[in-house]
Amino acid sequence: MDHFFNPRNVGELPNPDGVGRVGNPVCGDVMKMEIKVADGRIADIKFMTFGCGAAIATSSMVTEMVKGKTLEEAMAVTNRTVAEALGGLPRAKLHCSNLAADALHRAIEDYRSKAAGSQ
Ligand code: FES
Repeated sequence: MDHFFNPRNVGELPNPDGVGRVGNPVCGDVMKMEIKVADGRIADIKFMTFGCGAAIATSSMVTEMVKGKTLEEAMAVTNRTVAEALGGLPRAKLHCSNLAADALHRAIEDYRSKAAGSQ
């Protein structure tokens, strides 16, 4: 609940290194996650969502969980680990946590494809 009422890391980053956008076909909610990468780690991360409370809370939790982590560690974060970190989510809300994990993974993939293209 704390992450719902006081979400962390909401907003946008200037010149993000990677951007991940996802939409949820179940409910139509959308989310954008932006990352800054330094030395193979997530130096900063922000998200914006037009989503339900659970989507906001899980995104907030994801950003807190992965800040400072390596990209490999961040890729290993799944909707399940996020839901567990939040102390469990109601079954009907589990799809909401997919949004956050998927947006994070897309942002990392976006960063990697850009990095590969610039070499
Ligand atoms: Fe849409 Fe939760 S109801 S993300």
